[in-house]
Amino acid sequence: MRVTVVGAGYVGATSAVVLAYLGHRVTCVERNAARLDRWLGGEDPLGEPGLAELRGQVAVEFTSEACSIASAEVVIVAVGTPMDDNGRPDLSQLDAATAEIGGLAADGAIVVIRSTVPVGTCDRLQNSTLRRLRVVSNPEFLREGQALQDAFFPDRIVAGGPPEAQRPIEELYGRILEGRDLPGNPRQEGPPPLLWMSARSAELAKYAANGFLATKLSFVNEIANIAHAVGADASAVLGSMALDPRIGRHFLRPGLGWGGSCFPKDTRAFQVIAEGAGYDFVVLRAAIEQNARQLARFAKAIERAVPSRSTVGLLGLAFKAGTSDTRESPAIALARRLIRGGLNVVAYDPGVQQFPDEPRLSVRAALVEACADADAVVIATEWPEFAEMDLTALRLVTRGDLLFDGRNLISPARAALAGFRYHGVAGLGD
Ligand SMILES: NC(=O)c1ccc[n+]([C@@H]2O[C@H](COP(=O)([O-])OP(=O)(O)OC[C@H]3O[C@@H](n4cnc5c(N)ncnc54)[C@H](O)[C@@H]3O)[C@@H](O)[C@H]2O)c1
Repeated sequence: MRVTVVGAGYVGATSAVVLAYLGHRVTCVERNAARLDRWLGGEDPLGEPGLAELRGQVAVEFTSEACSIASAEVVIVAVGTPMDDNGRPDLSQLDAATAEIGGLAADGAIVVIRSTVPVGTCDRLQNSTLRRLRVVSNPEFLREGQALQDAFFPDRIVAGGPPEAQRPIEELYGRILEGRDLPGNPRQEGPPPLLWMSARSAELAKYAANGFLATKLSFVNEIANIAHAVGADASAVLGSMALDPRIGRHFLRPGLGWGGSCFPKDTRAFQVIAEGAGYDFVVLRAAIEQNARQLARFAKAIERAVPSRSTVGLLGLAFKAGTSDTRESPAIALARRLIRGGLNVVAYDPGVQQFPDEPRLSVRAALVEACADADAVVIATEWPEFAEMDLTALRLVTRGDLLFDGRNLISPARAALAGFRYHGVAGLGD
């Protein structure tokens, strides 16, 4: 099939490379000149593992020109839908991209909305700018850091729109739905089902999944906090919950709060969707509030423990390990809060070499450089490098002996052996 992907971010570039691997003729349009230049130079501006290598093996054209839309059978929209200042989804990129597609695409072409958009957006586009076309909602569930694995071996493909669009969507995903001739580790459960539904249901399915995952994390953080308050061991409690298949073993690790390019904006958008429908989504509201408190609680514990104008060695800037993405990163939020409180923050992250958005934050190229002369070391991202670091060697370069572990990566006994006073996320007190 002739496919044009609009947007060369995590979702668009991954979709483009994967669909080219499946044998489609793919063009990927990107309007950000700096990002496009790096794709054209054979680099991956996103740092997504394996993506640049796979891109080198397939024929996918990256361009700033939208003209390929005119001959595309399928146009995939993967532009950003960030949160605006009021916590609402900002659909300006989506509206601009679909207006362009509406003017260029051939009658009857399929427009696949992969961006996360409020319920009803596809219906709105179908009845306005994309009237001549067939609009399909096909939300993306990939995780940054393992985007290729998730794209080749998704748990499910969710899609919805006019019934006549189902066959072309099956053809688009071809070998993924058959589980045949794909690179990576196949899932034990076999190929994914294509769950075909209404566009509204597909749109809601994305928010429902992210809302649930964020709520699960907030709940787990509450369990860890309560465990400490009542003198129980949070990891023993959570470990026992993990073996209950109704709960599931993923997302049971307490931390300093969730962040990233999706959960914060999608939970807020989900709240707005609920409000718009006259529904008070109490559980989601509480999960969002808990998340803000979790970070504040962690920051407060650090501020209480160190004298003013101390130096903090911050380990981690990315919102999670395995990515260089810092959007809505709890590590950055923590750094900003500590700086505002008068502390000096020096950071290191294996995936993030600089962070110009916050000039008061120094970023170093090595872990020991960030921690040299630190009064406290703070782990904010769960990179394996931090779990495995030589704590005895680290203690030789730090000035103070405080170690705050916002990801519960280090065993308290190992930290104590190296001479650190350890504080995990559970056990901070109020
Ligand atoms: N990042 C993730 O892990 C993830 C996972 C699932 C869903 N999503 C959703 O997918 C969407 C995209 O996310 P992302 O992280 O890939 O975003 P991103 O910001 O990394 O990429 C979007 C890209 O689209 C480009 N763009 C915008 N308008 C354009 C236009 N008219 N023509 C050409 N290029 C244009 C931007 O320059 C940008 O490079 C969002 O709605 C997001 O919520 C993201």
